[in-house]
Amino acid sequence: MTAAVPSGLAQLVNRPLVIGRRTISGRLVLAPMTLLGHVAFRQLLDELGGCALMFSEMCSAARIPTENRHTSSYFRWRDEEADRLTVQILGSDGGRMAAAARRIEAEGFFGVDINLGCAVKEICKFNQGAALLKDPVAAADLVGQVRRAVQCPVTVKFRTGWRDDPAIPVALARRLEDAGADALTFHPRVAPDLRTRPARWEYIAQVKAAVSIPVFGNGDVFDAEDCLKMLATTGCDGVALGRLAIARPWSFAHWSGGAAPGASIYKDVALRLADLLDLHFEPAKALRRFKRYAAYLAANFAFGNTLYNRIRNAPEMAVARLAAADFFRDHPSERRRPNLNLLR
Ligand SMILES: Cc1cc2nc3c(=O)[nH]c(=O)nc-3n(C[C@H](O)[C@H](O)[C@H](O)COP(=O)(O)O)c2cc1C
Repeated sequence: MTAAVPSGLAQLVNRPLVIGRRTISGRLVLAPMTLLGHVAFRQLLDELGGCALMFSEMCSAARIPTENRHTSSYFRWRDEEADRLTVQILGSDGGRMAAAARRIEAEGFFGVDINLGCAVKEICKFNQGAALLKDPVAAADLVGQVRRAVQCPVTVKFRTGWRDDPAIPVALARRLEDAGADALTFHPRVAPDLRTRPARWEYIAQVKAAVSIPVFGNGDVFDAEDCLKMLATTGCDGVALGRLAIARPWSFAHWSGGAAPGASIYKDVALRLADLLDLHFEPAKALRRFKRYAAYLAANFAFGNTLYNRIRNAPEMAVARLAAADFFRDHPSERRRPNLNLLR
């Protein structure tokens, strides 16, 4: 019962977009998501038709220069995705951020994204992520140091700040542009709010109007109508899809004019992701990531909790696979929009 895509959306999202010296093919991008937007998920996404640009899970800038791509938990990729993948870095030391950016460029990625949004306590206590929003001059200085280190696109993902005032992200966006950022992704929530209150899309319009570089709007897009509304009401250049991308990864292709997914799409996608996780990760890491994904899969169904609980307690991937296969045998009833309580 996939909802129809509003007319005009495909035309809007299929326009190319220039970011720095590069061009992406459309306006829908995958937002960075730790433990969810990994190499296996991104392969699945590509198999479903892909999207214009993907942002990696956040990676510690301090570790990137020496990280082994074959054993790293986060800094893993397929060569064929590199030129559509931007690596997100997290840090507070300009020199280290610049060194990380140089490796990212040398590996042939699309670009480097700087995390100014992660509000998790363990990250903020090291003055990283959203903590940097408290000092806009220092944040812009970091961006400038990365800018000077590489030629590839440098982008920044940020939030409203630590107070709910649109003047704060507007002023920061201008500073980031002046520091050399090629595009911004803006998630209009204050930093202490870990997605409990609705994102304030009206702030996206203000940020977009303040700068001349592309702005991706982000936050609370859960169906095609939302996507059209965000584009139309904020004037943003593109949309970064987070949680919905995990729950319904075919949305990018469908909204861009591709065929509606078939009846078995949820089961097919879940089992394929299990295969790809087994292919790319050691068993314990693969299972941990499948359990994270399971909440997003389950959020699509009226009684998804039963599925989530079975997968969450699975001791190995084979048991998790069986739980998914059993659940879909009973033709579960799909929710029009995913259950937000499960999309944490
Ligand atoms: C589980 C999870 C992990 C996330 N990890 C990151 C991250 O590594 N870097 C980042 O900038 N944002 C991260 N985010 C925030 C998302 O990129 C996005 O801003 C947020 O989910 C709002 O968008 P949405 O409503 O489309 O999900 C994460 C969000 C979730 C739910």
